[in-house]
Amino acid sequence: MTELSVNVDHVATLRQARGGTEPDPIEAAKLALDAGASGITVHLREDRRHVQDEDVTRLRTLRRGVMNLEMALTDEMLGIALRVKPERATLVPEKRQELTTEGGLDLKRHGARVRDDCARLEEAGIAVSLFLDPDPETIQTAAGTGATIVEIHTGAYANVGRTSAAKRELQRIRAAALELERLGIQPHAGHGLSVENVGPLLEIYPFAELAIGHSIISRAILVGMKQAVREMLDALKSR
Ligand code: PXP
Repeated sequence: MTELSVNVDHVATLRQARGGTEPDPIEAAKLALDAGASGITVHLREDRRHVQDEDVTRLRTLRRGVMNLEMALTDEMLGIALRVKPERATLVPEKRQELTTEGGLDLKRHGARVRDDCARLEEAGIAVSLFLDPDPETIQTAAGTGATIVEIHTGAYANVGRTSAAKRELQRIRAAALELERLGIQPHAGHGLSVENVGPLLEIYPFAELAIGHSIISRAILVGMKQAVREMLDALKSR
C-alpha cells in the first residue's frame, strides 16, 4: 500500500491572502491525518510566502504521522530543521521567482552542501530525502550523499497529461526508481500528482510514498463548498 504525505502549503497560501488565521494549515493537517494520510509535508520557503515558522512549530507539537519539512540548502533552514527535529527533511532547490518548486536539486553544483546537510540532519536523527529529477546521471550521484530517500520529481510526467510523452516520462521515472532501489535508497515520488495520474504512475512502480498537495487542496475546496454554504445559510436563518 502506497502511503500519502499531504502537503498543506496551499492552505497557508489562502490564509496569507488575507493575512489572518484562517484557514489553518494545522487544522487541515489534522483532518488529512484523520482521513488516513501517513504524514504531512510543509515547505518553509525563504520568502515565507505560505507556511510560516509558527506553523512548523505547531505541526511539530501535534506529534502525529511523519512530519516532512521541505527545505532549501541554507544555514537558516538547516538551523530550523535541527531545532524543530521533524521525522524527515526533504532538501529542495528554491528560486525566489518560481510559482512552485520547478526542478530537482542540482547535485553537481550543490553536492558538497547536500552531503554536509545530510550528515548534520542524519546525526540529529532526521531522515533525509532529496528531491531529484528522474535523470540517470543525477540519480547516480545520490548514492554518495548519505540520503536514505529520494523523492522523484514527477512534474514533467504530470505536465504532459495523457499523451505519448507521458509513457516516456513514466519509463524515465521507473528507471530512476529501480536504480535507486539498486543503490539502497528508497524511492518516493511527488509533484503535480492527482487522482487522474497516480494510477499509471503506480502501475510502473509501487512507490512506498507519494507527496501530494495542490490537487488535494483544490479538490477539498470544491467538495467542501456545499457544506460551507449550508452552514452560512443556517446562520442566516437563525437570525
Ligand atoms: N514534493 C515536493 C518536493 C514539492 O516541492 C511539492 C510542491 O510543494 C510537492 C511534492 C507537492 O506538489 P503538488 O502540490 O503539485 O502536489
